[in-house]
Amino acid sequence: MNNSKKVLLTGDTPTGRLHVGHYVGTLENRVKLQDEYDTYILSADLHALTTLSKSPQIIGEHTRQVLLDNLAVGLDPKKVTFFVESAIPEIYELAALFSMYVTHSEALRNPTVKDEIKMKSLGDVFSLGFVNYPIYQVADILCVKGELVPVGVDQLAHLEQSREIARAVNTAAGQEIFPEPKPLVGRIGKLVGTDGNPKMGKSLGNTIYLSESKEEIERKIKGMYTDPKRVHVSDRGTVKGNPMFIYLDVFGTDQDHPTIKDFKEKYVEGKVGDVEIKQYLIGVMERLIDPFREKRKYYEENPKLVDKIIKDGNIKTREIVVKTLDEVKTSLKFFS
Ligand code: TRP
Repeated sequence: MNNSKKVLLTGDTPTGRLHVGHYVGTLENRVKLQDEYDTYILSADLHALTTLSKSPQIIGEHTRQVLLDNLAVGLDPKKVTFFVESAIPEIYELAALFSMYVTHSEALRNPTVKDEIKMKSLGDVFSLGFVNYPIYQVADILCVKGELVPVGVDQLAHLEQSREIARAVNTAAGQEIFPEPKPLVGRIGKLVGTDGNPKMGKSLGNTIYLSESKEEIERKIKGMYTDPKRVHVSDRGTVKGNPMFIYLDVFGTDQDHPTIKDFKEKYVEGKVGDVEIKQYLIGVMERLIDPFREKRKYYEENPKLVDKIIKDGNIKTREIVVKTLDEVKTSLKFFS
């Protein structure tokens, strides 16, 4: 461990494979910052029970897949510590303590929690754990004293809560135990789905996965939502808000930009068809995803290595978390 480096922590909820929205939202930043920061990446498996409580047995496999996604995009297990939430019981001890510093109404006011209740039409039927999950997330972050947290925009409310809890507990403890974690939103906080839905999500069926095959990329992009008002190639098309152009702008490299600019001009004038542009976009997405395949394959063929990455990470992280918890308990002068 290099103590002169600041601590970066982030993680994924293992409810399925990661997609290109995750890539521009957080993974890209993880890769970029892995040298500069002491980096921790967790699989929030308990957290996944908020949606998979009836089929928990698949969460473990999702954790493996999500880890493969992280490794495939270029995170280096020699530099980064990967761990699993459920392997570190002290996280829950911290979460129990933190829950005493959050009022019931504050927990229910969390805008991301409120959005999820609405989006999933949960009404008032949701678990106590669901309302609590932002507190678990705060414990995930603070257990290793995370200072920088790369996340998508939907996570900002939880980051705000982490700062409030850090301040409240520091005040109660009479010392600066916890830093106030800062979010780092990726260059695209929220990526539109292939169907034009403002959010890309597994349950919405509008994703392009980081582990997608060439054939699937082609199929998905060919079926992509574009400008519904445009029936013939000669009709004038709309570029703004058109997912096809959003993806070109987001994933195109510097080299692609003159072509993209040309496509946009022609599209508005009704001089280029969707098919031609989509074909180009397929190439752009392939250039992004193809390099991930080789690394993924390497780790897929070495499952013992993947097991070891998690086991070692769990041990290392737990040592740190035990120390953190000890510091807290000592400062609170608990009698034991
Ligand atoms: N809630 C995050 C998500 O669904 C995942 C997560 C859990 C997380 N714990 C975290 C992210 C701690 C950052 C830090 O994407």
